[in-house]
Amino acid sequence: MCTPIFMFCWCQIKPNFKIMNKRLLSCFIVGVVFLSLAAVSQSENEDDDDAAVVATEEEDPVEEDIIYRSPIPSGNVYFAEHFDDINQFSKKWILSEAKKHDVDDDIAKYDGKWEVEVPQKNGLTGDLGLVLKSKAKHAAISAHLDRPFKFTVKPLIVQYEVTLQEGQECGGAYLKLLSHGKHTADLRHFNNKTPYTIMFGPDKCGNDHKLHFIFRHKNPLNGTFSEKHCKKPKERLEEPFKDKLPHLYTLVVRPDNTFTVKLDHKIVNEGSLLDDFTPPVNPPPEIGDPDDTKPSDWDEREKISDPEARKPDDWDEDAPAMIPDPAATKPVSWLEDEPQMIPDPNAEKPDDWDSDMDGDWEAPLIPNPICESDAGCGPWEPPQINNPDYKGKWRAPLIDNPNYKGRWNPRRIPNPDFFEDKDPFRMTDIAAVGLELWSISNLILFDNIIITDDQTVAETWASETFDLKRRKLDKDGESLFSRLVTYTNEHPWLWAVYVIVIGLPIVLVLVFCCGSSNQEREEQRRVAEAKKTDAVSPDDVDEQAPAKATKSKSQLEVQEEEEEEEAAAEASGGELDTETPKAEEAVPEVAGDVPSSPKKRPSRKEE
Ligand SMILES: *[C@@H]1O[C@H](CO)[C@@H](O)[C@H](O)[C@H]1NC(C)=O
Repeated sequence: MCTPIFMFCWCQIKPNFKIMNKRLLSCFIVGVVFLSLAAVSQSENEDDDDAAVVATEEEDPVEEDIIYRSPIPSGNVYFAEHFDDINQFSKKWILSEAKKHDVDDDIAKYDGKWEVEVPQKNGLTGDLGLVLKSKAKHAAISAHLDRPFKFTVKPLIVQYEVTLQEGQECGGAYLKLLSHGKHTADLRHFNNKTPYTIMFGPDKCGNDHKLHFIFRHKNPLNGTFSEKHCKKPKERLEEPFKDKLPHLYTLVVRPDNTFTVKLDHKIVNEGSLLDDFTPPVNPPPEIGDPDDTKPSDWDEREKISDPEARKPDDWDEDAPAMIPDPAATKPVSWLEDEPQMIPDPNAEKPDDWDSDMDGDWEAPLIPNPICESDAGCGPWEPPQINNPDYKGKWRAPLIDNPNYKGRWNPRRIPNPDFFEDKDPFRMTDIAAVGLELWSISNLILFDNIIITDDQTVAETWASETFDLKRRKLDKDGESLFSRLVTYTNEHPWLWAVYVIVIGLPIVLVLVFCCGSSNQEREEQRRVAEAKKTDAVSPDDVDEQAPAKATKSKSQLEVQEEEEEEEAAAEASGGELDTETPKAEEAVPEVAGDVPSSPKKRPSRKEE
């Protein structure tokens, strides 16, 4: 293993002994890392038995730590469902037998399948969830609250878990809190038109990631309802749609008309029902009069073409943009009579060529070699240059419009639809909770739905369900990590390896992206300078031992200059393009040697 690394390094160093500093450094690091990794894998093999013992000792108590029991909610609860009891579930939950409105009849039926089952992965023993099994089908299921939730003096707290076990391409996983009334008397009729009070939860299609909070507001003037959509969360919430882990969604709406949305206990959105919804709950007190019209002589043009301006007489609109260069002359070595292509003199007629069948044989054409060695062949034409007389189309200059009146706005009138609802929290009573969904990705697992007016009840509920799940996941992930930490503490030199392994990419990027182009140019400059001053070149030095004194001096100088240049490059934050263009032209082949900066691949979309 070490031999090829050493060879690699040597090959890198040998040809340019004096500029080896950076390459040597990176080679050295690569070498060290490989050696360390080799050593680690070796000693890990040796210590395997120890490690296994440590692992089993550690893991057993971890497993025992987390014991799940179906939670029993305490306090003021309107609805609580942990899905662990299939009997109770089938009594409580009702499949929709309705059809979805406004879609083609043949796909309108709510025929999506639901199943109460264990999660695919990482489940707690005894913990079941409600799983949407169907892909791309309308699915609807709902259950009555134990008693309707009324919006009075206590907050509404809705909380539930979603695990997108297959990720999510396109589809929703939101809850609808169905409004009390005749539509929710028989939940077999639950459909997309069933009135809801609040819709809450994740929804995604393509790149559009949403965490909905929509409420339906009743217009106090005429009693119609309209949807009010919450402003977007501060951050983009993409992780829950791809990490396939359980996530906890919490909505709190308070009697003072404030609301909070939490994801995994962390606040991701908050605000006021009055200020943070579109369209706003309360319409504007004044509107533009819809009967007002813009007068026909109202001039909205801020600038106009100067009517006084005239096209200058010498302005030739037809002059071409490009002309043949009048100063160009045909090069003396230009061979006007030579064809650019000639029959290949080396081609031979194939033996099986049948002139009767195939016609007369002709040698294939090749580029005329004479043209390559001379300035060119064929008819000569001067190159095209920009026409100094080109002016293009003439346009009158713009001047301020003396008749400009500004933008026209209709006169303001009192809004006939104006009302002010100072208390949008007082929404329609909630009678049931429903899932009315369509999803491309299936196996969406719902769990631990709770509706309460007491935040501590919801928090306790989460601590006995969601928090346990996440703790188990963390421990599963952690046990590997903590094993590594323990092992490293026993072998402290491994910390050095980690530092190098983490530092290596940074160093390499610095060396190859920032360093090498300077380095190449320094080399070129040195070559150019050496030619100019007759100084000793690296090759000379390698071959001529007696020149050592000169060598050490020039090396010192070079090093100083290098450092100066590097400092300058760093200070200017850029490269030294303008300073050494000649050297670059002089030694173009070196450019092929410059490693191109690593292109960042667009990270692949989740599978
Ligand atoms: C009720 O009022 C709203 C807003 O003013 C209006 O858009 C809606 O059409 C009205 N509905 C009825 C049934 O009058």
